[in-house]
Amino acid sequence: MRIHLILIATAMLAACSDSHDESADAKHSARAEAGAALFSDPRLGTDGATSCASCHSPDQAFADGRRVSVGVDGLEGARNAPSLLDLGAFDSFFWDGREHDLPKVVLQAFTNPRELGHGDMQPVLDTIRADPGHSRRFKAAFGHGTPDHDDVAQALVAFLDTLERGETRYERALHTRNLSLLSEDEIAGLALFEGKAECSSCHVTDAERGPSTDNRFHHTGIGFERVAGQIAPLTERITRTGTPIGHLILEDPDVAELGRYAATRRAVDIGAFRTPTLRNIGNTAPYMHDGSIETLEDAIERELYYRGIARGRPIQLTAVEQRQLAAFLRSLDIE
Ligand code: HEC
Ligand code: HEC
Repeated sequence: MRIHLILIATAMLAACSDSHDESADAKHSARAEAGAALFSDPRLGTDGATSCASCHSPDQAFADGRRVSVGVDGLEGARNAPSLLDLGAFDSFFWDGREHDLPKVVLQAFTNPRELGHGDMQPVLDTIRADPGHSRRFKAAFGHGTPDHDDVAQALVAFLDTLERGETRYERALHTRNLSLLSEDEIAGLALFEGKAECSSCHVTDAERGPSTDNRFHHTGIGFERVAGQIAPLTERITRTGTPIGHLILEDPDVAELGRYAATRRAVDIGAFRTPTLRNIGNTAPYMHDGSIETLEDAIERELYYRGIARGRPIQLTAVEQRQLAAFLRSLDIE
């Protein structure tokens, strides 16, 4: 804990001495404003009723509260929508880390049949250009009102960049050096998280933000039993397909279970998933890549059990300790 406080203080001093470029800030906020309006515009889905915000809702920590997301015309996908409030923590995107470039990621939903449903970007660009509001915002941000894909991607990325600004109570306690902002149970939960329960070996505790991600991929066993007997035909579907991999994954829940394999085609990566950050975890039920775990308490229990098996040494926590771990995780919500 003391080490954290020193690191935070150093980071804060460094931030204060950064010079501020006001025109760059103004440009960034104009872009973010153009992006925010696209993000919540349901006319950008082929059914005229689905937007990014349908699955990444501002009222639900930019997740959707569903087991798996539902795109245009009520079509179900195969994955749980991740919160977009901690994107800066990740080196790669999606549960399997199949993409590294955020500007590419933000455009993919437009042309995924299980998300916004377009065959290509042209109708999206046409709708944006024909709308006086979007056109005006793009003119303010990019100097012209007829955006191309790159402009759309830059606007969405600028908007997503603004989402990380909130602070959790845990972070406030660290930043203000005021541990009394945390309850005794929460402090005990933190000690378990970093100690006996060994959660922080993957959900590494970042000195500034608390439990973050090691940006690595691990097996979880979640959803795997269902597909264990059909690995060969499933991997073949991935290697033989002419369909973009992101479409195949959302269309076929069994292929989606192959996890990291979809990105690397290495057998050891079958069923491995990216370690999620746990910021806002209290607000993003249900849990795991397939949304199969309904409550935070169940997710903790499942992790304790599975991580114990994986390391060949059970992790035994009392009911009180499990409650403390949950209390700590709930202090990671942006308020
Ligand atoms: C139909 C629901 C749906 C819609 C609409 C949707 N998304 Fe997503 N989004 C998801 C799901 C599900 C995933 C995870 C997919 C995976 O891991 O394979 C995801 C992943 C992402 C990620 C990567 C997050 C991470 O943690 O790696 C970003 C960024 C993102 N979406 C942004 C957007 C933007 C921008 C839009 C609108 C242009 C959008 N999404 C529209 C459901 C949706
Ligand atoms: C070996 C690495 C590893 C360890 C150790 C680990 N986790 Fe995880 N955790 C993961 C991965 C990977 C996932 C995503 C699994 C999936 O979706 O199938 C995950 C998912 C979760 C989730 C659900 C997150 C979400 O957004 O759906 C919670 C909650 C969680 N872990 C808590 C814990 C706790 C508490 C501990 C300590 C008892 C722990 N984890 C230990 C790697 C780990």
